[in-house]
Order: sequence, then C-alpha cells, then structure tokens
Amino acid sequence: MITIKNIFVNGKRQDILIEENKISKIGEVKEKSDIVIDGSDMIAIPGLINTHTHIPMTLFRGVADDIPLMDWLNNHIWPLEAKLNEKIVYYGSLLGCVEMIKTGTTTFNDMYFFLESIVKAVENSGIRAFLSYGMIDLFDEEKRKKEIKNAEKYINYIKNLKNDRIYPALGPHAPYTCSKELLLDVKELAIKYNVPIHIHMNETIEEVKIIKDKTGMEPFIYLDNFKFFDGVKVVAAHCVHLTDKEIDIIKEKNISISHNPISNLKLGSGIAPIPKLLEKGINVTLGTDGCGSNNNLNLFEEIKVSAILHKGVNLNPTLVKAKDAFNFATVNGAKALGIKAGKIEEGYLADIVLINIKKPFLYPKENIYSHLVYAYNGFVDYSIINGEIVLENGKLTKIKDEEKVYEKAEEAYHDLIN
Ligand code: NI
Repeated sequence: MITIKNIFVNGKRQDILIEENKISKIGEVKEKSDIVIDGSDMIAIPGLINTHTHIPMTLFRGVADDIPLMDWLNNHIWPLEAKLNEKIVYYGSLLGCVEMIKTGTTTFNDMYFFLESIVKAVENSGIRAFLSYGMIDLFDEEKRKKEIKNAEKYINYIKNLKNDRIYPALGPHAPYTCSKELLLDVKELAIKYNVPIHIHMNETIEEVKIIKDKTGMEPFIYLDNFKFFDGVKVVAAHCVHLTDKEIDIIKEKNISISHNPISNLKLGSGIAPIPKLLEKGINVTLGTDGCGSNNNLNLFEEIKVSAILHKGVNLNPTLVKAKDAFNFATVNGAKALGIKAGKIEEGYLADIVLINIKKPFLYPKENIYSHLVYAYNGFVDYSIINGEIVLENGKLTKIKDEEKVYEKAEEAYHDLIN
C-alpha cells in the first residue's frame, strides 16, 4: 500500500491510497501504509499517455533534421534501421523509457521491430506500454505472409509474458506501404486476439495522392471500403490531410486520432484539423512520434503545442482549450487504448505523476492547471505506474544506474552510424 498525504489532486488537498495496482481511495486516508509520501508541496496528475511512438528512434535524435518526410525516410531513416540489432534497440528503448518516465508519461503506444528488446526495456524501467510489430509488405505476397506471421508471433509472445503493464497491439505501418490483403489479415488478428490496431494515416499530401491515384479513393474511404475499421479498435496517427467524408468515417467508426503536432510541423507535413475533429466529437489523443522527427518524447510539449497551434492558424484563441489539450494526453489516450487510466479516481489504475510545484514557472501557483499546459517544462518528481513507484524525487527506482543508460545509448549510437 502507498499513501500520498495532503496532495493537491482534483482541485483540492486530500490523500490518495493505492492498493496493488489501483487507486483505492481519495479523501482522508487513515489506513496504515508501508509507504507514505508527503504531498504537501506537490500536485498529483494522471500519468500521461503517448499514443504514437517508435521508441528505439531516440538514437536517431538529431541525425537527419530539416528534410522532407519521404527523403527523410528513404535516404536517412530506413538505411539506419537496416543496421539495427537487438542490443542497439534495447539501449535506444531504455533511453526512451527513462525520458518518458522523467517527463510524466506512464503509458506509450509503440510501433517498431526487435520487440524482445523493447519488451525488456519496458520491463526493466517500470513503464506501461502497448507494443506492436511494425508491418510493411510493399505489396509483396511473400513479405506479407512473413509480416503477418511475425505479428502473430509477437502477440503471443507478449500475452505469454503475463506482465500486466505490457499489452500487444498490431502495427500495419500505413496504407501506402501495406497491401489490402495485409490490412485484412491484420483486422482478422485484431478480432481474434482482441488487440488494438496502430496505423499511420494521411500524414502527407504525397501519400494521400499515392492512394488516390491507385484506388481512386482517399485513404480512410479506401480502407472503409473493405470494412477495415469495422469491429476493431484503431488508433490512427497523424491524420493531417482529411476530407469531410473521411472525418465522417472517423466519427462513425469510432477511430481515435493520435495528433502529432510537433512531428508534423518539423517534417513540414501540415497541421491536422483538430478543431473540426473536436466539433464532431472524435476522440483526439497525443503522440510524439519517434525522436527522429520531434526530437524528444516529452508529451508536455505536445500538450502546449496542440493548445496554441490551432488558435494561431485559425486566428481564434478560443479553440483547443487548456483542458482539452490536457485531456488529449490523459483520459482520451486511455480511452483510445482501452485502459482504465487517465484520471485520478477510485478504481482507476494507479498511474500517477507528482510534481513539486516549487518551480519558477509554476508560480504564482493558483492557476496550476493552466501552468501545466502553457508554462511547464515537463520534468516531474514522482511517477507511480501500476501501483509501483518508478521515479522518486526525480530518481529512477527500478533502473539503478541511470548514468549507464546514457553511456550505453551513446555506444549504441556509434554502433549505428559507423
Ligand atoms: Ni510514426
């Protein structure tokens, strides 16, 4: 049991009791706990949920800046990815887990490969994750069979871990890299194993054009045409270039959007029509994307950018309110992934972040919920994930030697670029 005493939570000072991996009480806690955290100088917020990552790409931070997506992928990222191995991916992923924990993220939704290494980093760091194997068949039948076999193997591998922080997901990369046959196989597996699908959609004008030239339809219409979205839980990353008809499909099929404003801005891909999606009542969540195109995993930056970006481009300061942006990163993310998290309420998963408010940009402290959106740099003091303290006073608890994480990440980077 953990008791957090006298903490500012849900608008007032009270106590939080955590039993096993859940929040069991909020109010006055009289029960005796093994661990008592004094919350007097702190605020508790639900842990953030990053719905679109490629975690090993922390090692690609800064390797290829200021170039367009297709050039970036074809000439920089894909050649480097060809050199990855288990060890490199492990240390890149561990670095990513450390970065996320220290900036308040408690759950991430990832798409990549070398999943054994990513699983190990997630296990060792204490974070919660949905992990999918990124599938690309480039319309080749042999490749498709191999990719589907791999994806199913990883679902079973993760299920068999029986780790209640690690969930399998399916990650077909995008409609321009995956055949219709592969996508139909993915849908079948999603239903068979009851796992969410994580896919890139409508990120650039070029890729929308590729699909339109090939099928005569925009990507969401094309996928809906073969009923890809029916009966499955889908998190669609980016969704920058959408027609009204596609927005209707997103709404009708209950698809969640992972808004990745910083990655889209940096790669010059465009700006997703978030106010329009909100008007329709679509579930908008936030993602950083990989560190090659962001270049960090600090979701507080996405919260701020998503809150100010749409005001600026639409010349309307009332769009995407602070509360909306905060919800994108918490309760909406939980809904997209189907976990009882994103709120600090009794019965919810104990994924809680504590922030010491004695920081220059959090004062005067009266409007703290505004500061967390518009003024905060993201470094948190405590992180409790699945009822376990993984960050205590800014120090990692499960990873004993943080220095070594940096050393090994540096080594992995040199293995990669040499
Ligand atoms: Ni991505």
